[in-house]
Amino acid sequence: MKIAIDGPAGAGKSTIAKLVAAALGIDYLDTGAMYRAVALQVLKGDKDPEDPVQVLETAKKAEISFMNNQICVQGENVGEAIRTPQVNRLVSKVAKIPELREWMVEKQREISRTNDVIMDGRDIGSVVLPDADHKFYLDASIDIRARRRYDEQPENKDGQSLEDIKEDIRRRDAEDRNRLVGPLTIAHDAIVIDTSHMGVDEVVAMILKRIKE
Ligand code: DC
Repeated sequence: MKIAIDGPAGAGKSTIAKLVAAALGIDYLDTGAMYRAVALQVLKGDKDPEDPVQVLETAKKAEISFMNNQICVQGENVGEAIRTPQVNRLVSKVAKIPELREWMVEKQREISRTNDVIMDGRDIGSVVLPDADHKFYLDASIDIRARRRYDEQPENKDGQSLEDIKEDIRRRDAEDRNRLVGPLTIAHDAIVIDTSHMGVDEVVAMILKRIKE
């Protein structure tokens, strides 16, 4: 079984996808984490984030893998390092590069070839898994998405205000929606769920019901 979950930043995709994966006993793949891992390596290596050659080379060298659902670069867990404001700023630039997307899509399909999987991202239902058994598109208002991201960092160690986060999400959504290859889009056969006023359990229950129907 293949399940696609797409939507903008902060719509609750990864929280929901993880729970659905656990309920169904299938794998979960966070494709955003893969783009973030490349952005992190570009940052560390001081590469040009808009140069396709440098970015693709960096991606290939990164040896991205998942161990117990934790993303690793060359075997090292980078789960925290990929969620900094610096990576947030860079990731949509990197994710815009067609050569990188082509490589990522192939890698993501390869992972799904042997296992049942639920994948979350921006182009899963439209590009990576067009034949997925189930497609969902999660959305929520910008205010609610920014508030969720803000509440996710209890100590607010990055010192970002709610307004900073809202601005960052707005910019990232615009870049993700407007790129030429694999933009954020609602697949024609996806079920759209507005999670603005729904609890996590409610969304998970709705998705599981649809899958079992
Ligand atoms: O889901 P996320 O916020 O962790 O994703 C980080 C960035 O990666 C997001 O701004 C767009 C990009 N991305 C993408 O282009 N395609 C995907 N399938 C997943 C993420």
